[in-house]
Parts: sequence; structure tokens; C-alpha cells
Amino acid sequence: MNAFSLKSKRLLITGASSGLGRAVAVAASEAGASLVITGRNTERLKETFQKLHGDDHVFLIADLTNESDINNLVTQLPLLNGVFFSVGVSAILPASFITREKLLSDMSVNFMAPVLLTTSLLKSKKLVNGKCSLLYMSTISTVYPFVGGGMYISARAAIEGYARVLALELAPKGIRVNCLRSGFVRTPMLDQTARISQEVVSKIESQQPLGIGNPDDVAQTAVFYFADASKWVSGTNLILGGG
Ligand SMILES: NC(=O)c1ccc[n+]([C@@H]2O[C@H](COP(=O)([O-])OP(=O)(O)OC[C@H]3O[C@@H](n4cnc5c(N)ncnc54)[C@H](OP(=O)(O)O)[C@@H]3O)[C@@H](O)[C@H]2O)c1
Repeated sequence: MNAFSLKSKRLLITGASSGLGRAVAVAASEAGASLVITGRNTERLKETFQKLHGDDHVFLIADLTNESDINNLVTQLPLLNGVFFSVGVSAILPASFITREKLLSDMSVNFMAPVLLTTSLLKSKKLVNGKCSLLYMSTISTVYPFVGGGMYISARAAIEGYARVLALELAPKGIRVNCLRSGFVRTPMLDQTARISQEVVSKIESQQPLGIGNPDDVAQTAVFYFADASKWVSGTNLILGGG
């Protein structure tokens, strides 16, 4: 068996209606995985669905900031060999403009949604012991921050801390947990960030020697984390940042 193949693996891909989630879904299906893809926007999620290779896939709409949506989603899931946590929104706001409301809204998507989905998956015993890999999206900005990134980067740094604890807690069950600290990649989120501050995007682009990434650059790395080839890799924060 090819250790890089995802044949006979069943994965849940969050944020699959756009950007990195969509690219990971397509690449994982190409590597042989059966998928459940989820997002909020039905039309764009269907677009992803149509791009998938093979036919053993399902799409389910869910707002992951909503507890009953999480529970409905998890109830419908089969046993999983992996989850890609790509749900997220971009927010650039100088410190003096941060409010309780904005902070709660940002943390609710970028931190609480992946954490509470994980809790629900664990309580419902949907993760296959011994053969499961959880992969959380973080950002290279937790190491190389940008001005105005206080809320967004803090939420991502919180995910990194959470994931490292989870890696310890779930190791006895043979469930691996890792984070990708991605550099800037051409997705709708980057377009949105550029609309808020082209200056931030241009500056970061100049700091990535191999330039801005493509979604497939992240997707192929994600496939490795779901494959048996990475079966001894857990608790890592991989910098994937164009050099
Ligand atoms: N692009 C980059 O340069 C970059 C760099 C580092 C890290 N990241 C991280 O990678 C992840 C994906 O980024 P991306 O560039 O692919 O962003 P994107 O294209 O904007 O996609 C974000 C995804 O999250 C989903 N989402 C947002 N709010 C949701 C909610 N409440 N419930 C369920 N789904 C929700 C969106 O679904 P709908 O559209 O259906 O609402 C969409 O599928 C993010 O967590 C981001 O922080 C991105």
C-alpha cells in the first residue's frame, strides 16, 4: 500500500466552500479519500462537490458558530480518519478599535468553532482510534505578526496552544493532532485582507521569498498529514511559508 495514499480514509473537511478547504477537499479526493465536506454557502459548497474525484462523498451545510448546527452535522457523520479545520475569517483591526463584540465574533469563528466541533466529535466517538489525524489551520503570522492582526493572530495562536494540548490528550488513543502555520496564499480571504489593507499584503508578499502561495501548495501538505506516511507526526506546527 502506498503510504501517501488516502484510499479507505474518510475525512471531514470544514471551510470546504472556499479557498484552502476547497483545495484540500479536491486533493484529498484525488488521493483516494471519501469525504464529508461542509461550509455555509450552499452554492459554493456544491461547486466544490462537483470538483471532487470519485463518488463516495457527501456535503452538509453548517454554521460552525451555531451549537445546534454542530450537533446536527456531527450526528450525520460517519466514523472519521481525519478532520481538516479550515473554518475561519480574516480580521484586521488596530488595537484601539477592538471591541468586546468584535472580539467575541472573531474568536467565535477562528477559535471556538474548531474547538467546539472537536469536543462534539470526541463526545460522539466519531474519530477512529489508532487511525485518525486532526489538522488545524493556523498562520505564519503567529511567528511573524502584522500590524492590525491582534484579534486574528491571537485566535490562531490560541488554536496552536489548544492543538498541542490535544496532541498529548489524544496520543493514547492513537489520534494525531497538528497545525499548519501557513504563509499568505491566494484565496478569497487574501482578497478580503487586501481590500482592508493592501499595505499588509504587499509587505507580507515581500517577506515570502517564494512569493504568495497557491491553495494547492497547502493542499498537498495536508494530504501528507492525513496519510499513513505521517503516522509518527503529532504536536507539530509546520511553517509553510514560501521560504
Ligand atoms: N489564505 C491565506 O493566506 C491563509 C494564511 C494562513 C492561514 N489561513 C487560514 O486558513 C483558513 C482558510 O482560509 P481561506 O483563505 O481558505 O479562507 P476563505 O477562502 O475565506 O474560506 C473560509 C472558509 O471558512 C468558512 N466559514 C467561515 N465562517 C464560517 C462559519 N461560521 N461556519 C462554517 N464555515 C465558516 C467559509 O464558509 P462559507 O464561505 O460557506 O461561509 C469558507 O469555506 C482560515 O482559518 C485562515 O485563517 C489562510
